[in-house]
Formats: sequence, structure tokens, C-alpha cells
Amino acid sequence: MPVKNRFAELLPEITAWRRDFHENPELLFEVHRTAGKVADLLRSFGCDEVVEGIGRTGVVGVIKGKTDASGRVIGLRADMDALPIREATGLDYASKTPGKMHACGHDGHTAMLLGAAKYLAETRNFDGTAVVIFQPAEEGGGGGREMVADGMMDRFGVQEVYGMHNMPGIPLGTFEIREGPMMAAADQFEITVTGKGGHAAKPHETIDTMLVAAHIITALQSIASRNVDPLKQVVVSTCVLTSDSNAHNVIPQTVVLKGTVRTFDPAVQDLVEARMKELPAGIAQAFGATAVTDFQRGYPATVNHATETRHAAEVARSVSGKVSVDTPPLMGAEDFSYMLLERPGAYIFLGNGDTAMVHHPAYNFDDNAIPFGSSWYAGMVETRMPAA
Ligand code: NI
Repeated sequence: MPVKNRFAELLPEITAWRRDFHENPELLFEVHRTAGKVADLLRSFGCDEVVEGIGRTGVVGVIKGKTDASGRVIGLRADMDALPIREATGLDYASKTPGKMHACGHDGHTAMLLGAAKYLAETRNFDGTAVVIFQPAEEGGGGGREMVADGMMDRFGVQEVYGMHNMPGIPLGTFEIREGPMMAAADQFEITVTGKGGHAAKPHETIDTMLVAAHIITALQSIASRNVDPLKQVVVSTCVLTSDSNAHNVIPQTVVLKGTVRTFDPAVQDLVEARMKELPAGIAQAFGATAVTDFQRGYPATVNHATETRHAAEVARSVSGKVSVDTPPLMGAEDFSYMLLERPGAYIFLGNGDTAMVHHPAYNFDDNAIPFGSSWYAGMVETRMPAA
């Protein structure tokens, strides 16, 4: 199955959708215009069911194949939200809303999945049911988590789920994937150190929170170097240090440290969380201060299931012949992870060529990637549920 000829024909139409989304970016759950257009298009394709308002502003379309002897249901997911970035592409279809921009290519993901939905609804050349999933709030709001919490998987009977993200730096038409972790879990911490403030010229009458915080920052690096198995990956970054004083001659009463933790393995994540609490508390105690860690778990790791990864790679190979199955995992996070915790599935990167990196103000999705992405989505359905 080469890149489907039908997607070459549909390319101008899909590109027009993509550029319309690009011109009208919306943030987080506020994707009302985008979701409305997605739902209208899905209805115009003749989807058997189109449901809006799942996970607040998510949209789901159901497309039944010619037959359903298999009873199988495959979910395909795209994200719809943009970023709070001021666009600097100079494109004639650049964002019309200053400070909002499709800088992660979710406009492309949505358009490619719409293209696949149109093709699947007109051909129905499969045995089973395709469920197309358009989620809000990937960029920080947990829209995927909200759709799952809304009962999406059970309601539509999804048995396997597949997601895709474009990736600058990977050649156009090339896919990259790996079994196991693709993206990291992203957690954040806030450590509050409380001592005894006072005059900086009389340190002996204080308990110096700044000194305690400095020891804590240093000691936190021992988690990666001394606690976690060196063959496993972890990032511990302390990024913010603030105190309740801005004076040169005051030892502050409290100091707050903030930062991020990235892991792939839940056991490592548990270990890091425990050490993030023990180390500051113990160090502070030794100095006569206190330190309390607030550890907030964010998106879990995006972990590809083995069998589904093989299916995803096979379809990618049939689409373009170019697929790497050992792409290095990224320390960024992705909330498709919540769907992969519910159902077996896989997440794949699609090359976006030599463009600025995602989340950069000069980034742009390359429309030449559309036939590859739409073909992969449609191919997952036709390959996993072949027509009788
Ligand atoms: Ni993204």
C-alpha cells in the first residue's frame, strides 16, 4: 500500500483545513471553533456517529466498516490545541490572534486525521469500527486524561488506540517509533525551606534558609547519580529559587525551590518522589530548619505497547518504506499517555523535515507531510481490521 492516491487528491482540501486551523488557534479546553469545525466536517463525511463535548471540548467520530464480523474497534487520536506563543513565521495564513499560535503542529494532526476520516467514511473498506478522537488541551490541561475520565474508551468500545506527532529534524515521509517509553513522565516539585530569618551580619542568631537550600540543590543531584540505576534515565532540574526577602542584608525566613523531574519508569518515578521528600527534610533537620516537598505528578510516561508498536511500524513501512523502530525517547511529555494506560496502542513520530523545532515561534507544520500522516491513520484501520 503506497501513499494512497486518494490522499494526493484530497491534499488541497486537507491543506485548506490545516491552514484554517492555523489561522485560528485556540488554547487548552477553549477549542470551541476548532472542535465545532471538526464535528461539522465529520458529519459532512457521513460518520455514523459524531459526539461533541467529551472531556469538555473533545470530539469523537465513529465510522463503521462494510462489515463487522471482527467486532474490532480501533481508536485514532489527534490533538487540537495551540500554544500561547506569538507567531513569527510571516505566513499569509499566520495566526490572526496575537499571542496564540499552532506552534506544535496540532493543526496538522487534526487535519490529517480528518482526511483519514473522510477517506474511511467514503471507502469503508474494513471489517470493524474506526473511532476518530480529537482531544483538547494536550499542552498542559490533560485533555486526553479528561476524555478518558469521561468514559470514552468504554463508551465507544475502543480496543486499541494510536497517536501520531510530527517531528522537525526527521525527514519528510520518515516515521520513527520505538517499543516501550517514547516520552517521559513530567512531574514538578516545590520545596519550602523554613528557618529563622534575621540580620545578615548576625548569622549566628539565624537559621540560614539560603544555606540549607543550597545544600538541598546540591544533594538533589545525588538522586540521579547515587540512587537511580545508572542504566535508567532520570532528569532532576531545580529551576527556581525564591525567598521572602529581596534585601542584601537579610537572611530570609523562607526559601522556595521549584523544578521538574522527568522519568520513563514508574519505579524510578516512585524512588525519585520518595528521595525528593527525604533529602530536603533530612538536610533541613541537620541545620535546625524544616523543608517540606510538594511533589505533583504531571503527565505519565508515554509507553508504547510491543505488539501495537510492530503494527504501527508495519503500516508506516507500507506507507513510505521509511521507518526507524529504535528512535531515542524524548524527555518531553505527552498526554496521549493517559490513553495508552487504558488500552494497548502506540504513538509514532512523523517527519516534518528541516523546520524550526515545535514550540518555536518560527515553527510551521509542513503540508507535504499530510499524505503520509493521513495514509498512516487510515492504514492502521485497514491493516488491523482487513476487509473480509
Ligand atoms: Ni504537540
